[in-house]
Amino acid sequence: MDRSTFVALAKRIPPLYWAAGAVRYTQFKSRLKIAENAYRLDPTRPLPPPMLRYRVHRALDEASYLEAGAYVADVIADNARATGLALQGLRILDFACGPGRVLSQLARRLPGNRFDGSDIDAEAIGWARGHLGDVATFAVNRPDPPTNYADDSFDIVYSVSLFTHLDEAFQFQWLQEIERILKPGGLLITTTHGKRCLDTCAPAELAELAAKGFVFRVDHTGRFKVDGLPDFYQTTFHTEDYVRNRWSTIMPVERFVEGGVNNHQDLVVLRKA
Ligand SMILES: C[S@@+](CC[C@H](N)C(=O)[O-])C[C@H]1O[C@@H](n2cnc3c(N)ncnc32)[C@H](O)[C@@H]1O
Repeated sequence: MDRSTFVALAKRIPPLYWAAGAVRYTQFKSRLKIAENAYRLDPTRPLPPPMLRYRVHRALDEASYLEAGAYVADVIADNARATGLALQGLRILDFACGPGRVLSQLARRLPGNRFDGSDIDAEAIGWARGHLGDVATFAVNRPDPPTNYADDSFDIVYSVSLFTHLDEAFQFQWLQEIERILKPGGLLITTTHGKRCLDTCAPAELAELAAKGFVFRVDHTGRFKVDGLPDFYQTTFHTEDYVRNRWSTIMPVERFVEGGVNNHQDLVVLRKA
């Protein structure tokens, strides 16, 4: 039996699902403790503490956090350049920035621009304000729109691994809000789970994706949700057709690169009319 079928089956047998959740939770807590002890030995480290890194990166080691941040910053910069926009004197927002994994590295690649970062995670934003305050201005936003940004504020909003986690209603509310705060002609650069991310999907999820173009999967909730993020934050899958047809009702989709992020997530560029 493959993993996705086992998980789908376990979800239908609550005691089994709870037992698996408890084992996963205990293992995670012990790995986290080891990482936190190592982190405490050197409090001058320029990296966020292990739990903040885990929330955005799903791993506890420092090297891969830095590598992924650098790689994704290159992807965002390359795709912004590919649109023909001159990358100077712009106002750029990292929406769902966490503790600045990508923002800290993108700002170095695109000097001469003004950066903002926003996230629901007050702890991550607190860390970013304390350590990256010279790089960007940070804000905590509520889980649902609006943000406090004025209409037409940004030339570019990028959002890495946010629409990979929101349900359909939230997705449209946030696309609408990002459209509001973008300047006319401004870009949204974001990512989705598409064709190259379906290995964990159960047959029923693949069937739903084929029929509807969109799947929202609820994995762990409550105490066993080890990332500590709200229960609304789960896992979402999109087809390219869905993104092109449905998202373009809000902003035209200018570019779709299947596997554009590390041959895994798809990369989508939208431009406000
Ligand atoms: C997978 S992490 C990615 C973080 C960052 N973009 C990166 O690539 O390092 C997803 C982030 O989305 C944030 N998030 C979830 N819902 C949000 C919302 N409604 N508004 C803003 N941020 C949100 C989470 O707190 C988390 O920091």
